[in-house]
Amino acid sequence: MSTQITIKNLENILGFVTLLTNQEVKLYDIQTEPLTFEPYCYSKEFNELITALYQENFIISFDWLAWKQSADSFITNPELLTVADISTLQKLFTTHIRQERFCSGHLARMIDNKHLLAIFQRLQAIYAAGMLENNHNHGEAKMSQQTSVIQGDITQLPVDAIVNAAKNSLLGGGGVDGAIHRAAGPELLAECRLLNGCATGEAKITKGYQLPAKWVIHTVGPVWYGGDRGEDEMLGRCYRNSLALAAQYQLKTIAFPAISTGVYGFPMERACKIAVSEVNKFLHSHKSIEQVIFVCFGQSAYDCYLKVIRELT
Ligand code: APR
Repeated sequence: MSTQITIKNLENILGFVTLLTNQEVKLYDIQTEPLTFEPYCYSKEFNELITALYQENFIISFDWLAWKQSADSFITNPELLTVADISTLQKLFTTHIRQERFCSGHLARMIDNKHLLAIFQRLQAIYAAGMLENNHNHGEAKMSQQTSVIQGDITQLPVDAIVNAAKNSLLGGGGVDGAIHRAAGPELLAECRLLNGCATGEAKITKGYQLPAKWVIHTVGPVWYGGDRGEDEMLGRCYRNSLALAAQYQLKTIAFPAISTGVYGFPMERACKIAVSEVNKFLHSHKSIEQVIFVCFGQSAYDCYLKVIRELT
């Protein structure tokens, strides 16, 4: 039997995401009987999920015991999942499910600490980013892993560069700008002082200092005045100029926040469409960039990105 993951397989499995997010669904029960060797008993829904993982080729045969340490590193550093590909996700599912045989309750813990959900969310992002790139030779969909969407804090990502939604002075502020300066430490502000600010739509680069990211690309998004003052074009330039700097510095992985959608008031869906189409256009003509991650702060931004990516791809 083929161990190929197809779009059909992926869709079947993604149907279970609601199971993991829905608080109403009881996935397991802890038996209180002290003499039992199997303290966790799984619900019918949970067993269906495991069966589907097997049927849809998410459980593969490989030396999962030797790989267990790698699997654990995804629990301690969940941000690693943002760049995990399909075959890594297959290995993760396999390792956690096999581990349950030796350590009853392991899967229950993976549900409680939301790790299983995070793996599914990565699958969802891969699906959203690549579902329509058809491989005509095999009649199967090929996953594009060049763009992904995640929910989280951009300051935690171990990428080559994170993009900052800055202000013209480049001297720090609130929102994502404040979070980046706090996490990078005072040396970031000291370097920013040397840059003479930045015009709206332009981008400048500094080191990342205490951040896990090596570089910070600072760009200044437009303030939203209703849409008639060139806001769309200026926001598009933020993405183009940030990516051009990344390409110039030969950076391979770049994470963007939703520029201008906070304090500057740009409507989220409109900003999302500009972000996704500018990034797609750029990646088409610049093969050196391997991965662009859209980082969403909160579920509604995340849902908006997934919807826009599906519509535009
Ligand atoms: N990680 C990822 N995204 C974040 C984070 C974070 N840690 N913090 C905030 N965001 C999101 C917001 O939810 C919003 O969707 O980043 C998006 C941009 O919001 P702002 O940071 O408010 O940026 P912007 O709208 O471009 O306004 C820029 O805000 O604080 C100032 O100095 C900054 O004056 C500038 C203005």
